[in-house]
Amino acid sequence: MAEITRRIGLSLGADICWPVCYEGLMKRLDLSIPWQGDRLRFEVERVSIEPFSLRQPCRYDLVIDRLTHWYHVSREWIKKAVLMDGLYVFNNPWAIQSMEKQTTYCAMMKLGLPVPDTWLIPPKSYEPRDDLQPTLQRYARLFDLGSIGRELGFPLFMKPYDGGAWVGVSKIDSEEQLQKAYDESGTKVMQLQKAVLPFDCFVRAVGLGPQVRIIRYDPDAPLHARYCADRDFLDAGEVSLIEDMTLTINSFFGWDFNSCEALRSDGVWHPIDFANACPDSQVTSLHFHFPWLVMANIRWSIFCAAVQRPMQRTHNWSPFYEIAEQGLNYRQRLAAYARLARRRLEADRFEEFCSRHLAHLDEVAWEFFGSEMARDAVYQKVCALFPEHEQDKFTEHFWELIQQWRKREEDKRVSRRDAEAQREGRGERSPE
Ligand SMILES: Nc1ncnc2c1ncn2[C@@H]1O[C@H](COP(=O)(O)OP(=O)(O)O)[C@@H](O)[C@H]1O
Ligand SMILES: [Mg+2]
Repeated sequence: MAEITRRIGLSLGADICWPVCYEGLMKRLDLSIPWQGDRLRFEVERVSIEPFSLRQPCRYDLVIDRLTHWYHVSREWIKKAVLMDGLYVFNNPWAIQSMEKQTTYCAMMKLGLPVPDTWLIPPKSYEPRDDLQPTLQRYARLFDLGSIGRELGFPLFMKPYDGGAWVGVSKIDSEEQLQKAYDESGTKVMQLQKAVLPFDCFVRAVGLGPQVRIIRYDPDAPLHARYCADRDFLDAGEVSLIEDMTLTINSFFGWDFNSCEALRSDGVWHPIDFANACPDSQVTSLHFHFPWLVMANIRWSIFCAAVQRPMQRTHNWSPFYEIAEQGLNYRQRLAAYARLARRRLEADRFEEFCSRHLAHLDEVAWEFFGSEMARDAVYQKVCALFPEHEQDKFTEHFWELIQQWRKREEDKRVSRRDAEAQREGRGERSPE
């Protein structure tokens, strides 16, 4: 029986808290997984930035990447390693371009999801270049911005077609505001989107492989309190709908890791933003949900590295389009997309792997998120974001929310144990 090491690389930029927790938890887990007659061990390393020969081998089996959406040296290194060395990476670097909102809106409209009506408009101004004037003179049509606004109806949202992090997003209530916002939009290519207002619930669904966590989101709260800690705010039907939606979106573009924003209005869930190449992973925003994220990351990366899951290098959209054309009603169609997504993500095999080899993760994580090391990770992240006089207060605030998560996990464990004892008392077998 040989001991084989699988190497996991973390390709990082400004991230502070989750890598510390990921590494700390991996150390405590000290995995040694029996696999096809051998034992698998795991090493985690941070990927450095340096010159590389295109012919040099890659030392990693899997890379969790948080950098290549803007840092091109790492993006090209990762693309080389996928093409030449069989590397598995979250997320597929060729899918970064599809992370423009425009692309995802088109794809999801085509699959029949209720994306609000959206227009793309040419920019107000341009960077100078040789062919610009003849091109615009010949082909750019004068257009009536106000009539597009009227057709969509007010309020509407103006946002960059490839945007992120709320930059350049504005709510527009009238034709005058629309004209003003457009005049100020400069060289950015903008979209106008019908507002889903009023909405009565806003969620962010974080998908990591086949795992989805649905979090209520309050866009009007201060930044540190937008992710809400409450659970059980949706019924089972809505949970399954949003899970299906998220897995469909992610697997259509081959994303391992993404978050999908959806708004509920009149009982309909409208996806509005689901192209996040580098979804928020910071304890300072996720707080109560942060342990879930770190654990989900560990589960999916260990599974992919252990079984040597092949990277889905190209998109294959045809099976989704085939389902779209089958004449199913919306819910059946979404369920069929999600079945395809779960197959692509090997959801059953993943679950079996986790229950066989990572069953102790819950307990180890529960201990870890009460440790000094975890608290220090929170403190480091808070120090990077908050002014000195607020650092202790906010460290305590986020730490307290993590402790609430631990308390909740503990309560769940106790009620599971009680249910088990009751079943045994009645002489029943526990459910598989
Ligand atoms: N169609 C819409 N209806 C209602 N609110 C919207 C809509 N589009 C955007 N918003 C609001 O604006 C915020 C930022 O827009 P979003 O599309 O998420 O862009 P970003 O990629 O910058 O996060 C959203 O979180 C939401 O609060
Ligand atoms: Mg958003």
